[in-house]
Amino acid sequence: MEEEDVVDPWTVQSKSAAGVDYDKLIQRFGSTKIEPPLIARIERATGRPVHHLLKREIFFSHRDLELILDRYEAKQPFFLYTGRGPSSEAMHLGHLIPFIFTKWLQDTFDVPLVIQMTDDEKFLWKDLTLEETHRLAMENAKDIIAVGFDVNKTFIFADTDFVKDEFYRNVCRIWKCVTVNQENHIFGMTSADSVGKIAFPAIQAAPSFSSSFPLIFGGRADVPCLIPCAIDQDPYFRMTRDAAPRLGFPKPALIHSTFIPALQGAQTKMSGSLPESSVYLIDTPEQIRDKIMKYAYSGGGSTVEEHRKHGGDCKTDISFQYLSFFLEDDEKLEETRKAYSSGKLLTGELKKQLIDLIQNIVAEHQERRSQVTDDVVLQYMMPRPLNA
Ligand code: TRP
Repeated sequence: MEEEDVVDPWTVQSKSAAGVDYDKLIQRFGSTKIEPPLIARIERATGRPVHHLLKREIFFSHRDLELILDRYEAKQPFFLYTGRGPSSEAMHLGHLIPFIFTKWLQDTFDVPLVIQMTDDEKFLWKDLTLEETHRLAMENAKDIIAVGFDVNKTFIFADTDFVKDEFYRNVCRIWKCVTVNQENHIFGMTSADSVGKIAFPAIQAAPSFSSSFPLIFGGRADVPCLIPCAIDQDPYFRMTRDAAPRLGFPKPALIHSTFIPALQGAQTKMSGSLPESSVYLIDTPEQIRDKIMKYAYSGGGSTVEEHRKHGGDCKTDISFQYLSFFLEDDEKLEETRKAYSSGKLLTGELKKQLIDLIQNIVAEHQERRSQVTDDVVLQYMMPRPLNA
């Protein structure tokens, strides 16, 4: 019997070297695949080419994205909402993906963005104190800001600072209309879980509703949001979409990404708790080179002769996969794909290309991050109206 991939907010695991079967996942979750006509519509509506992460099906699935485009075309407001669970100091390359894409969305649609740092969540799930998860939230916020979000259009908050007033009232409303049974069904939580874990999903749901941010939306409750996130977060928003009509709020729309595979292979995702699986944003050029050389799973032939004869398999080759996440130049990527799968390009040469690219991206990130002082973080975190 074929075993199902496991994808939930805590685990991503597949038996296949090509990774999670995302078409099956779409069916199982009941979301919608992003097809070429929808991409063409986005290009028409915005008057520019879509981001390579969308074109390459890394953002591959959605819920109600058409409704957001309807609004955009009718010049009605919407906002963006995304977040980060601050569980460690060292963010890795995979953590940047939703934020890079969110920045593109913000620049393209010119809308307000709220970013939730769930320090409460990581306190509840990990062996960390609240002081520590709050500190990690502030540190991770620097990496997020370094992606380049416009301070005039972006509000970042840590839950343990911001969950009060209108936000908390919405949390209470959500609590009242979701049962423990429903959560059990959606998340597999049981009566052995802490009360905190059972309460938490409402906290991740609340930023989907514009009335949680009266300073930004002037008390309006009818402005819908679009949530860019990795697809493992979908369960939270299935719950939210279920609750929304009962509260008289619009359902959040979603745009989902795949996971960046671990260096060792696509059976699992890059994970901050497995140092050999990840390229961290604090890695030195040498560390980046060594990890990619040593660990990046190769879909190439086992000998040079074999490789020249049969070529490499881009579907399982991790270096090629990473290029498709990070190399913006479509022509160069296609050239590399052809050269590698025909056997002209060797694994060592492919890795060299990837190492140069990642060293550059990480060095540039580190440079931008070094400019983000504690004061800059506080500017983004100050509750205030936004100009978008
Ligand atoms: N639960 C997410 C995590 O562990 C953090 C998060 C909160 C989030 N709100 C979100 C992620 C909205 C995406 C979209 O990383």
